[in-house]
Amino acid sequence: MNLSGKHVLVGITASIAAYKTATLVRLLIKSGAHVKVVMTPDSLHFIGALTLATLSKNPVYSEYFDPKTGEWSNHVELGKWADLFIIAPATSNTIAKMANGQCDNLLIATYLSSDCPVYIAPAMDLDMYQHPAFKNNLNKLVSFGNYIINSTSGELASGLLGEGRMEEPENILAFLQSFSADQPLKNKKVIITAGPTYEAIDPVRFIGNHSSGKMGYELAIAAESLGAEVVLISGPTHLEIPQRVEVIKVKSAEEMYRSVQMHQNSYDIAICAAAVADYRPIEVANQKIKKSSSTHQLNLIKNIDILKSLGDVKKTGQFLVGFALETQNELENALIKLQKKNLDLIVLNSLNDKGAGFGGNTNKVKLISSDNNIDELPLQTKNEVAQDILNKIIQLQS
Ligand code: CTP
Repeated sequence: MNLSGKHVLVGITASIAAYKTATLVRLLIKSGAHVKVVMTPDSLHFIGALTLATLSKNPVYSEYFDPKTGEWSNHVELGKWADLFIIAPATSNTIAKMANGQCDNLLIATYLSSDCPVYIAPAMDLDMYQHPAFKNNLNKLVSFGNYIINSTSGELASGLLGEGRMEEPENILAFLQSFSADQPLKNKKVIITAGPTYEAIDPVRFIGNHSSGKMGYELAIAAESLGAEVVLISGPTHLEIPQRVEVIKVKSAEEMYRSVQMHQNSYDIAICAAAVADYRPIEVANQKIKKSSSTHQLNLIKNIDILKSLGDVKKTGQFLVGFALETQNELENALIKLQKKNLDLIVLNSLNDKGAGFGGNTNKVKLISSDNNIDELPLQTKNEVAQDILNKIIQLQS
């Protein structure tokens, strides 16, 4: 979401991580948002209201009633003013009160009065973070439709090492920006394949490829933030599991195919971003193959084309997207794939373009739709490419 002009309410609770929220407020202002800050009374021990008032260019709210000015802070107005509410840091205590509607300070009253998306960035010590009581409360907030910005691992104020650190302000900002308030994919089911496949040769070896899975994972994150129910069918990757996304981990093309099949009748949008191995060894040795001769022959057999299998049974209303990685006759080959696999859209990666393809964080693609319209996108981060692909799908479906 472009935050420019948006009303962002920042909630601060009593954690040492509160000092980082000054940076978050600064970043929000720099991105063009209008910012107001509401603090719990105890959080004022950790960071001064004057700092936040100066950075946000607005008065800071922490009490229902200010005896000095005689002014009453209207929590309903504050809640309705906000286009989004980010509570960072959120302590275990505040999360428990939010989960149970225990309204003993202005921040909680504002939370209960707001009807905008609410984001929560917890911060606490690692044992508290692991405690089932806290986890239950957090799950309750998720069931209310609130968004959790997970804590990270690292050194904590207690000196202990582990999970519980509040996410860095830059990453919180990126999280907010990747979210769309419009949710155009609400009630849509999106399935995405991602990553490489590993085709076993023997118990310790496989045929694989360099796909990192990043493009597919970014698509899953972007689709979720647009309101979709997302199923991500992923080959082996080192990537973090995206929040609120159902992830099915697979190894081989065969496993990926079986998982995709389970959803082939129920999806609205399917995006095959996986780099599926085209061939697998005909036989998988039971024992590790010894290096007995100077040459070794592997007999391979074609894997099923998962994307084409979806195209073959595509129903009216289902939208199918494939990827193509070409080194020559790019457009011509991509168009052939689009038709042969019965696709609605194909994303053409070119290895000839610097910064595109496997591994990196950027990609340069062309989007070709079934009416032969071509959109040439600039070199962008995979996150931006994912958003453009989904926007194109939404545009073509409407
Ligand atoms: N794909 C798939 N299952 C396979 C092979 C490919 O689902 N067994 C999908 C990929 O996820 C991608 C698209 O097909 O969306 C294009 O894959 P690519 O390897 O570029 O093309 P192929 O159709 O395999 O043709 P070729 O290798 O001859 O270029």
